[in-house]
Amino acid sequence: MQIEKYYHKSDALVVGTGLAGLRAALALADAGIDTITISKVYPTRSHSVAAQGGIAAAIAHASDDSTELHMWDTVKGSDFLGDQDAIEMFVNEAIKTVYEMEHMGVVFSRMPDGRIAQRRFGGHSRPRAVYAADYTGHVLLHTLFEQCIKKKVRFFNEFFVLKLVLRDDGVVSGVIAWDIRNGGLHIFNAKATLFATGGFGRAFKITSNSFTNTGDGLALVLREGLPIEDLEFVQFHPTGLYRLGILVTEGARGEGGYLLNGKGERFMERYAPERMELAPRDVVARAEQTEINEGRGIDGKDYVYLDLRHLGAEKIKERLPQIRELAMNFLGVDPIEEPIPIQPTAHYQMGGIPTTKRGEVLGDGKTEIIPGFYAAGEAACVSIHGANRLGTNSQQEAITMGRISGQAMAEFVKKAALFPIPKEAVEEAEAHVRKYLEGKGSVRPFELREKLHEIMTGKVGIFRNEKDLSQAVKEIRELEEEIHHIHVEDKGMKFNLDLQEALETENLLVFSEVIAAGALNRRESRGAHYRVDYPKRDDENWLKHTLAWKTPEGVRFDYKPVVITKYQPQERKY
Ligand code: FUM
Repeated sequence: MQIEKYYHKSDALVVGTGLAGLRAALALADAGIDTITISKVYPTRSHSVAAQGGIAAAIAHASDDSTELHMWDTVKGSDFLGDQDAIEMFVNEAIKTVYEMEHMGVVFSRMPDGRIAQRRFGGHSRPRAVYAADYTGHVLLHTLFEQCIKKKVRFFNEFFVLKLVLRDDGVVSGVIAWDIRNGGLHIFNAKATLFATGGFGRAFKITSNSFTNTGDGLALVLREGLPIEDLEFVQFHPTGLYRLGILVTEGARGEGGYLLNGKGERFMERYAPERMELAPRDVVARAEQTEINEGRGIDGKDYVYLDLRHLGAEKIKERLPQIRELAMNFLGVDPIEEPIPIQPTAHYQMGGIPTTKRGEVLGDGKTEIIPGFYAAGEAACVSIHGANRLGTNSQQEAITMGRISGQAMAEFVKKAALFPIPKEAVEEAEAHVRKYLEGKGSVRPFELREKLHEIMTGKVGIFRNEKDLSQAVKEIRELEEEIHHIHVEDKGMKFNLDLQEALETENLLVFSEVIAAGALNRRESRGAHYRVDYPKRDDENWLKHTLAWKTPEGVRFDYKPVVITKYQPQERKY
């Protein structure tokens, strides 16, 4: 089969059109840089649109908040694995980000006196979440998209990136992508490329993440022999709709909702007596899972209740309209009348592509900047969230780091040359697609995905242990062998969703081994990573970031120290 090729040039290339990607593209366009964005989906379908409850910033409208408190809450929430220089920069920039977004036209919810409102969120000691009812990600994303259109950013929507072009001289000079809609390979050559490719929730069976969140950026980076940082830290959001995992915002608890077990008890009293339902997510998700595992789920089943009834119809309709709609549409439950069945849901990756505080990707994970390569948002690890992210810090990180990275890229491309894409890179990308289109295997992509979901949810979930994790690593490696025997039914290149599923499944397998091996390797409990066989945090041996490389023999590890500036690690109590 002939595969058509199309060539494009730009100064800057942004892969991913969620909050981080669009904010970076806007910063580039503002600096007069010719910018192309590439996305698997139409930009307003990027997963950031599903973010609900708010964006954190110490604007102190609803309390005596300060950047100092925001920093401390984030450091403590991260279980002291967050880099404090990055966190300090982040909390200071966060305030600017909120006002900047407001001035671009975002309609934030208001206090009676007309100022921007703020609500409580888990792990934040003050009401710090700026919000737009429970559609915060939606309004932020649409606003950024409009601004990018206004500034003439060039969009290539529904393109699937097959290869990151890392040249032999160590320079990144673009990507090669498949045009999902029209077929053909597109070669994007740029002076600088940013990955804002989002998260990996679809490696798990129950997840709040959209179907697109298959961690493609992580797989592309690992394939080029580059490291990923701290991938063993997987966040489980405490309130996913039962069996579906769809997000029910923490803002619902911020507004006063509470959790009940099968005995009708507010069980958080036993786990976090001070903060209760507004303890950080790692604490609340573990508490829920413990109730479920010990038979105190509703009717002994694997869910508990989120009760909002006492908030009253008016508040629910005004502040949580989307939650009400989701609960009614998907579970047939009106939260005004009945409690919502919920369970923990895989939500967020704390780790990612290691970067500097300017979004520059680190080739050795430590100090070596790769010319022309940037990452931002959930795909990146700066590291602001350490071992556990606080709710609403991610939308903030995506936009703030998107802006900072875009500005850094603009400075870079003004001085940089355009390095061509080697023809071997194009051949490799083409061979990758042909492997599936021309393969003679018999395994269907969904079969491998289902097996992976069982492994990741069953053995690499909220509670982990040596035996399960060792088994998980072995089983994932076996699946990585099976991928070579996959059967793709559709042999064309136009809207071939079977091909897309195969490519995504391979990507899921590439980084899932890193998650499982990292969790096996880290023999302590910290933040979202909980080892029942090592239940204590071990600062003496493990106050360090993991760097992981894929090798044919398995995952190779190295480490780097946590940046500690103001706060020495201490016991975390809520
Ligand atoms: O609960 C939520 O609204 C999710 C927010 C977040 O992950 O930051």
